[in-house]
Amino acid sequence: MYLTPKQIQKFHRTGYLLLPDLFDPVEIKVLRDAAETVYALEREEVFRERDGKTARTAFAAHHYNEAFRRLGRHPRLIHPVEQLLDGKVYMHQYKVNAKAAFTGDVWQWHQDYGTWARDDLMPAARAMNIALYVDDAVEFNGPLWMIPRSHKQGVFEAGHDLQTTSYPLWTLDRETITKLVDEGGIVSAHGKAGSVLMFYSTLVHCSPPNLSPWPRTVVYLSLCHVDNHIRRFKRPEWIAHRDFSPIEPMPDDCLRQLSTADTVS
Ligand code: SIN
Ligand code: MN
Repeated sequence: MYLTPKQIQKFHRTGYLLLPDLFDPVEIKVLRDAAETVYALEREEVFRERDGKTARTAFAAHHYNEAFRRLGRHPRLIHPVEQLLDGKVYMHQYKVNAKAAFTGDVWQWHQDYGTWARDDLMPAARAMNIALYVDDAVEFNGPLWMIPRSHKQGVFEAGHDLQTTSYPLWTLDRETITKLVDEGGIVSAHGKAGSVLMFYSTLVHCSPPNLSPWPRTVVYLSLCHVDNHIRRFKRPEWIAHRDFSPIEPMPDDCLRQLSTADTVS
């Protein structure tokens, strides 16, 4: 799957692109089952919310789950990013974000590249997220909020917030957010399960807590051009990867091959 010139134009203008219905219900079922499996694992990569129980993020799930390994090499995710970053990419970070029903906590306002530059010494913002919605993301279950066009202003000052959630994050102050929202507004990135969201690593975004009875799993592949790999190895390998080899995409039906629904029918 490759992006059209019009889609590329929209991505550069607004800082993001939502692609509905990129994965079908059979593929999504494989991934939803996989998410439940990894959330139940007692591993250091599976970060919990402040309650110490609820899964918040399963880092590096492509290293210990077959469905997520395949998703990390899926051509429908890798090819469009290679197109936008103009070359081969490696996996800088891989997260399965749970945003559990009732308890899924906030992600504060931030830029991903701000963290990658400060913590990992990634030389340039030649890296980006591509996110697959495993559940519907609706008004009530903590969808991503983004500030359109905020990707064009470089890296903002940020403070290291160790308090608000269980996960440390470089976050932007209220004055900056107010100014950016005055200029660009806020978009709530609603979409059906199977949709894919791509966004600039300098796009300012956050997500509210999930007070609804509906979980909201999203898988994030943070892909970086192979020439732009990180220079500092301060964070654990499972948060900021050190394998800079180019990802070789798998066949398009690689997730379907794991589906029991397919094999019995
Ligand atoms: C993130 O911005 O890294 C995660 C946000 C979310 O999953 O809501
Ligand atoms: Mn982020």
